[in-house]
Amino acid sequence: MDKKICITGASKGIGLAEAQLLSKDNEMYLHASNPSSFDKISIPNSTLFGYDFTKMENVDLFVEELQQKTNSLDVLVNNAGLMFIEKFSDFSDKDINTLITLNLHAQLLVTKKLIPLLLKSKDPHIIFMSSMSAKNRIVGESVYAATKAGIMQFAHVLRNELAGKIRVSTIHSWGVNTWDDKEGAEILTPENIAETLEFIISRKRPFLVESIDLGHESHWNGASAPWSPEV
Ligand SMILES: NC(=O)c1ccc[n+]([C@@H]2O[C@H](COP(=O)([O-])OP(=O)(O)OC[C@H]3O[C@@H](n4cnc5c(N)ncnc54)[C@H](OP(=O)(O)O)[C@@H]3O)[C@@H](O)[C@H]2O)c1
Repeated sequence: MDKKICITGASKGIGLAEAQLLSKDNEMYLHASNPSSFDKISIPNSTLFGYDFTKMENVDLFVEELQQKTNSLDVLVNNAGLMFIEKFSDFSDKDINTLITLNLHAQLLVTKKLIPLLLKSKDPHIIFMSSMSAKNRIVGESVYAATKAGIMQFAHVLRNELAGKIRVSTIHSWGVNTWDDKEGAEILTPENIAETLEFIISRKRPFLVESIDLGHESHWNGASAPWSPEV
């Protein structure tokens, strides 16, 4: 493809799988919370960045450093994010703040500040890593779901505002095994999301994958209610 691709949160899990797949034939700009997060990882064709996005001033520093390394960008993947599961009444103020800052506020600011670099590309694309939590009502995920639903709606509006200039896509996934699950839960792998990302960014204009929902075929979550018949 030979694109310049920036992925936030690329040191592990989904972002790392995306970086590993796409680095074969693209120029990669990979971000994590700290430069040392990449210490044990070797990804070809990559420039590495370390900025903690729970501190908003770091978004400016990240963008400044990125602009020093490249004067254009073809793809921005807004992937960096965390999930804390807790009954809302038990949530600490600090954890609420961390989720909203990292999963929502930082993604909006990174996007806003990188639009000028993206507009230098002939075929720019922004991808947001949302979640099926944005569309469901899973107990314990109130704050996480709020951030992911926020990103989903933000992306819908941005897609219309940037129509004809920058393509905007959103990925919604059910559980992805990013915690080395050994119990064999029927969930997707980070590589499944990476393949999906590759599919989305390799479609030729004007074809746009606006939004895509991903799940495991033997869906264990949200697929049946207590009153559902046996299948
Ligand atoms: N796993 C799932 O089941 C699932 C399902 C749907 C959607 N998602 C979404 O997919 C994205 C990636 O999830 P994942 O499961 O792959 O997560 P992960 O394995 O925990 O990786 C998170 C990435 O984000 C970075 N990050 C964490 N805190 C940060 C901070 N304060 N500042 C900057 N970067 C930070 C991490 O960098 P460090 O290594 O430096 O900490 C890491 O690269 C998230 O947005 C998540 O909400 C995940």
